[in-house]
Parts: sequence; structure tokens; C-alpha cells
Amino acid sequence: MPWPEELERVLLTQKQLEDKIAELAAQIYRDYANKNPVLIGILTGAIVFMADLIRALPMDLSIDFISVSSYEDATTHSGRVRVLKDCSHDIRGRHVLIVEDIVDTGLTLQHLRHILQDRQPASLRLCCLLDKPSRRRTNVTADYLGFEVPDEFVVGYGLDYAEKYRNLPYVGVLKEDAYRKTCGVNSRGA
Ligand code: PRP
Repeated sequence: MPWPEELERVLLTQKQLEDKIAELAAQIYRDYANKNPVLIGILTGAIVFMADLIRALPMDLSIDFISVSSYEDATTHSGRVRVLKDCSHDIRGRHVLIVEDIVDTGLTLQHLRHILQDRQPASLRLCCLLDKPSRRRTNVTADYLGFEVPDEFVVGYGLDYAEKYRNLPYVGVLKEDAYRKTCGVNSRGA
């Protein structure tokens, strides 16, 4: 695959991602091997991570997806999420593992956890590939975490810039002038 001009550098190589997913899968297998969990991926960014993670888990599990949109609540000035496409499983009494590509402010996951917790799963945990702790506005932490990343605009392996680069097989850092010139600051931008 050619090097995209808008990329400054590769942050995480395919090999680093592959090794980390094997580590995460080993931890998840240890905790869930006989629990037939439901893994819920958050669309759209989590799909690549989800696809690789489930293939590293030699055990019974179900997969599902949920799509949410984030918005700022004008009254409380807090982020909220609206469910655009709900998951289809009844998760009451099931062990649920949320699979996410990146935690940034943590607002998406904070609200999603409340939504899913109200459905009374047997347990609810979070597996997140990337964490950008410098931008956190909540106390959300991942139970299974891949990598901490710096406060830069990361793309690839599911993460996009204006819908581009989700299909890069690695994680890269976008050049600052690439996103400043078009949109200023993005929800995941520095
Ligand atoms: C990204 C990412 C998380 C969310 C994290 O999704 O996939 O869901 O932002 O941000 P937060 O911690 O500040 O809430 P995005 O809204 O870009 O949608 P996408 O997954 O479709 O790219």
C-alpha cells in the first residue's frame, strides 16, 4: 500500500498491532473462556480491531454492533450520545465486552456504558485498542487496553480522517496541516 502523503509517520506497525491483539486475546480468553460473552463493537472505527480480535479467540462468543452519534448537550455542556443503530442481542444476564478503537474524552463510552448497564448484563467490561488519556473528560478506563497514544491525530486500522484511511493496516499520525486546513479540530484531533 502506498504511503499516504497526509501521513507524518507510522505510530504502530502491523506487527505491533498483531502482537498486542494476541496479548489482549490471551487475557480475554483467560477471563471469558467458558462464559460465552457478547462482544459489542462500536461502529465504525472498531470493526477492524473487532475482526482481528475475535479471530484470536478460540472460544464460544457472539458478536454485535452498536452505532452512536456524539453531541454536546447545550444545557449541561456535557457530551451525550444518541443511539443510531442498536445492537440486536438481548444482553440481560450475558457477559458483555465492549470493543472500541479509541478512548479520547471518554464521553462516548461513559454514556454507552450507562445505556448497556441499564439492560442488566451479568458483567460489562471494555476492551479498547488505543487510549488518549491527555484528552479525557471522564473517568472511563479500559479493562483491556492496547496502547496509550499521544495527543496527535491518529488514523488507520479502523480510525478515519474524513472517512479516509480506515483501511490502512497500521496506525499512523496525520500531518497537522492536513486536518487544520479543512476542519480545524476534529473530535479526535489534537
Ligand atoms: C471515535 C471513536 C470513539 C469515539 C471516542 O468515533 O471510534 O467511538 O470517537 O471519542 P470520545 O472518547 O471523545 O467519546 P467517531 O465519532 O470518530 O466515529 P467512527 O467510529 O465512526 O469513526
